[in-house]
Amino acid sequence: MQKAIQYLNDNNKRFLEELFSLLRIKSVSTDDQYKSEVIKAAEEVKNRLEEAGAENCEGIPTAGHPVVYADKIIDENLPTVVVYGHYDVQPADPLELWDTDPFDPQVRTTEIHPEGAIFARGSADDKGQMFMHVKAFEALVKTDSLTCNVKFMIEGEEEIGSPSLPDFLTKYKEKLAGDVILISDTGLLSLEQPSITTGLRGMSYVEVTVTGPNRDLHSGLYGGSVANPCNILAQLIADLHDDDNRITVPGFYDDVEQVSQEERDLMAKAPFDEEKYKKELGINAVWGEKGYSTLERSSIRPTLDCNGIWGGYTQPGAKTIIPSKAHAKISMRLVPGQDPETITKLIGEHLRNVAPDYVKVDVNYLHGGIPYVCPVNTPEYQAAANAMEESFNKTPIPLRSGGSIPIVALFEQTLEMKSVLMGFGLNSDAIHSPNEHYGLKNFKIGQETICRFYEQYARLKK
Ligand code: BES
Ligand code: MN
Ligand code: MN
Repeated sequence: MQKAIQYLNDNNKRFLEELFSLLRIKSVSTDDQYKSEVIKAAEEVKNRLEEAGAENCEGIPTAGHPVVYADKIIDENLPTVVVYGHYDVQPADPLELWDTDPFDPQVRTTEIHPEGAIFARGSADDKGQMFMHVKAFEALVKTDSLTCNVKFMIEGEEEIGSPSLPDFLTKYKEKLAGDVILISDTGLLSLEQPSITTGLRGMSYVEVTVTGPNRDLHSGLYGGSVANPCNILAQLIADLHDDDNRITVPGFYDDVEQVSQEERDLMAKAPFDEEKYKKELGINAVWGEKGYSTLERSSIRPTLDCNGIWGGYTQPGAKTIIPSKAHAKISMRLVPGQDPETITKLIGEHLRNVAPDYVKVDVNYLHGGIPYVCPVNTPEYQAAANAMEESFNKTPIPLRSGGSIPIVALFEQTLEMKSVLMGFGLNSDAIHSPNEHYGLKNFKIGQETICRFYEQYARLKK
């Protein structure tokens, strides 16, 4: 192991240059305009895997963006680790809020990262984290220290809900067969207190359209006598939470599995500084469901949020109209027990039921995903915990995350493999936001911990 760690140290500068090159590629999966860049990123990941010593490296076409596959089977009798990650990124806009070009990576220091952080779209989510796996693998191969078989499955559609991956998993089930899926696409509580993600929330994402009159109307001639779809939509959305900030959609909580008091007690012990949290976000007070802490609200409880709302006149200056239509995008984060299809049906029925006669409401499903919980009494969890303990000199705590990686539940259903979510990002990394960054220290310690994971896993799986 010492040889592999030394290799990581000796080659750190080159690794950063290679990562920067990957970060320069605008692989925004949601926008067709960037299709060639997405392909370019897939090519580059494939080439890096080849150089690292992987075999059978290929970009496998799908109905959407390609999945990069590579493997190294050293001994059929050893356990096989399947590494999952994504090379696609979120759009970088609003560009004017970035201090430097999102696709021209720069290292700058911050309060949390005195040793420096890489500022670029995708630096933390997920190119930087996925690349740690390529480099950890390279270090193990080049120093003859690999103790497991490894398969890579790096996709290009995670940020749009992995639409092509379910079919891909079915089609390549044999090829992808292994013992565990290892993913670094989540975060740590902090560099001082490491944690392992033991749950992901699911999702139901819908677009709501409220239609009133058949065209925009003069608000002087019709204002007061014809319902305004923008007003109605705002009211509908406001009414989706009650005074305790619980979601009012009938049946919404019916299938929610209660988290044990034991797990809640453990969460309550996790170091979390609410004052710092508020300060970092520039808010005066926290908000959320009555009876739950901030950490609980953002991980073990389901949510409903309007992500965007528009309609009528939004250009400069004033235009006096009653708009014909108003729209909103609404996402619901789901917790174990809740089924995205059922929830999507419930919100659709509810909005149509409560909508007044003078408008029409349409609810369109955009995408969704099933929630996931990882068991902690398994060799793979223990391997991750041991690896982290070695790297951080501190036992990691298991914590559920509020984020979603919808495909993880399908890894279990289709591939029949559990996933280990050993991520190294921080909440302050600003993923999906302007000035996304990833700590140099996180990048380094992540690679070391991944190397140690293979060693631990091979030992514990024996
Ligand atoms: N890597 C994130 C998910 C994440 C981040 C989980 C931090 C836990 C901690 C992933 O790329 C992501 O952004 N997922 C989307 C879902 C998707 C369907 C767009 C999300 O959570 O919004
Ligand atoms: Mn991600
Ligand atoms: Mn993301």
